[in-house]
Amino acid sequence: MSATTAAPARRTTAPAITARKGGDPIVSLTAYHAHTARIADPYVDFLLVGDSLGMVMHGYESTIPVPLDLMIMHGRAVMRGSQKALIVVDMPFGTYEESPGVAFRNAARVMKETDCGAIKLEGGRRMAETIRFLTERGVPVMAHIGLTPQSIHVLGGYKTQGKTLDAWAAIEEDAKIVTEAGAFAVVLEAMAEPLAAKITRDIAIPTIGIGASARCDGQILVMEDMLGLSPRVPKFVKEFGKVAEAIEGAIKAYAGEVKARSFPEAANTYALAEPDGPSKAAKKPKSPGA
Ligand code: KIV
Repeated sequence: MSATTAAPARRTTAPAITARKGGDPIVSLTAYHAHTARIADPYVDFLLVGDSLGMVMHGYESTIPVPLDLMIMHGRAVMRGSQKALIVVDMPFGTYEESPGVAFRNAARVMKETDCGAIKLEGGRRMAETIRFLTERGVPVMAHIGLTPQSIHVLGGYKTQGKTLDAWAAIEEDAKIVTEAGAFAVVLEAMAEPLAAKITRDIAIPTIGIGASARCDGQILVMEDMLGLSPRVPKFVKEFGKVAEAIEGAIKAYAGEVKARSFPEAANTYALAEPDGPSKAAKKPKSPGA
């Protein structure tokens, strides 16, 4: 490296996440933008650019219509906003299920165009061959089992998985198979708590719970949901903030001041330059362009 080349920031890697199995809980959130990624980065181990962005930000009814280009655009924004977290980008519906080759082509696009450190895809047993194909070719894969939102039309809706004991074996098998195929971690979404706890005990890679169990190796939530910014949230979400109320309060106050002509006030406006020299404001600008 030349003396003039800046040292790259050290980001968390997929193997570093795997090494956390059974250790300190792994903290993660979704992020879709540079500004929220910047705020979350010091507190999380990884940020997921989830395809939930289709519903949360773009008003789709499900994650199914989300295009790959949209994931890449948001993935780039989250990379620009963060420095230390591992960035994982979701593969959207229709970009990986057809064959390992199609999955590799699209995953390689995501990694080349965003510079993210890993991708996530949904599915257990049925995706094993693809997970192996990708990891053997340099693409770290986070698996996602239990409730897989891209399959809602097959599942018949957003249903909690593993609520009866007879449903456990297939989900446990999914967890074991994605581990054997080389996934570096696995998301367990919306499943009975004792099942998620058992899977966490039984497999060698970290489990990341969302509506699963506090005994998972880590947790993830959709950032907008935990901030209190989403109009409706599933039972498994705890709202840690009241951001929608804060935004509405600020917008209401702004609208009131605009209507009353009390905003902008002197502090927010520019004075005329003094005829015999620059004005005080010009000597000490408060912000670029002041
Ligand atoms: O898309 C997403 O946000 C996700 C999380 C719910 C894990 O996959």
